Amino acid sequence: MMDVNQIRLDFPIYQKHPNLKYLDSAASSLKVKSVIDQIDHYYLTLGVNVHRGAYDLAYEATRLYEDARKTVAQFIGASEDEIMFTRGTTSSLNMIASAYREILKPGDEIITTELEHHSSILPWMKVAERTGAKLTYIPLSKEGRITVEAFKKVLSHQTKVVVITHVSNAMGYLTPAAEIISLAHQQGAVVILDGAQAVPHMKVDVKALDVDFYAFSGHKMFGPSGVGVLYGKVKLLNQIEPSEFGGEMVDQVFKHSFTYKDAPLRFEAGTPVISGALGLAAAIRYIESVGYDKMHEHTKALHQYTLKKMQTIQGITIYNPTADQAIITFNVDGVHPHDVATKLDQNQVNVRAGHHCAQLVTQFLGVTATLRASFQIYNSYEDCDALVSGVISARDFFQSF
Ligand SMILES: Cc1ncc(COP(=O)(O)O)c(C=O)c1O
Repeated sequence: MMDVNQIRLDFPIYQKHPNLKYLDSAASSLKVKSVIDQIDHYYLTLGVNVHRGAYDLAYEATRLYEDARKTVAQFIGASEDEIMFTRGTTSSLNMIASAYREILKPGDEIITTELEHHSSILPWMKVAERTGAKLTYIPLSKEGRITVEAFKKVLSHQTKVVVITHVSNAMGYLTPAAEIISLAHQQGAVVILDGAQAVPHMKVDVKALDVDFYAFSGHKMFGPSGVGVLYGKVKLLNQIEPSEFGGEMVDQVFKHSFTYKDAPLRFEAGTPVISGALGLAAAIRYIESVGYDKMHEHTKALHQYTLKKMQTIQGITIYNPTADQAIITFNVDGVHPHDVATKLDQNQVNVRAGHHCAQLVTQFLGVTATLRASFQIYNSYEDCDALVSGVISARDFFQSF
């Protein structure tokens, strides 16, 4: 286990809220000091645009911004021209969907799953509606997992796009992505992975996976909100249309046409989220300084400890006891999750309540909403104990009505 008191020194929020038991990191993680300092540094000492000005401040801002791109590229095993800064996973996934709206035809198939976050599925519903392509779902296992066997049943030579979550935000299941990608490629389909929940917890190597497009967000990995990443294989990126047009993404403009710059700038129309990119690079440096192995060991220990205790509580249902990631999705039987979450908050235990932007998952579970506790490196055994005792008192309080 890591020394939580030491780790908390890196997260300034604990100075203001020393008794916080924050168990909602799958929604948004807490922010690390070096990220905040990096953003401050940009606004205090630079604050100017990138790629435009011919003066020292602009060169320095551009250098930092392009260094941030290098940091992201090295972090996920990509090259710099394959990394686009976006507003977040949602905007990254929408960018790809909007490109395929111009490419897919009636008869083509898009494979997805009921485990998806809305941002990974709604854009493809619109693509299917617009193009006449068919949206097909991989049947989930009884537990709610994506399996290679089930994928093989829906894959066909009509499959053009496979869009799946790398780790489910509602269930914490890890998708067998490498096998799925290899099978999809044999049929000539491209694979888009939603890595919003994966990158904050595990080493992702896009080249080893051989994935075509990969998306993740800064705010779930100790970084700022408002910034995310879209990775794409450079050959594919230079074949698809951007969804936004404007400054810095064009090469030459004529009265009735224009030519694009190559990726990544082709996909970064307008002033990019400069401070966000710098903050995200600082978050990556932080993760690298701690190390995924240690992070995983810590969150796994907390997860197993809490799960074991919660499994002894009568009157609650746990939906994902075999989750691969440190996420516990549960309900207090007969009690609305918002009521439980509000009661937990009275002791500063923060969990998520609702459908987690994944309504197909709650439908699969046969409920309208659930509670979700998710763990990160700043969590302690005391946080876990507070959750367990809070759930017991919420159960006793609400189930007595
Ligand atoms: C699996 C998954 N995909 C996509 C998203 C959307 O991320 P963002 O809101 O940062 O765009 C989330 C956020 O909860 C998520 O958990």
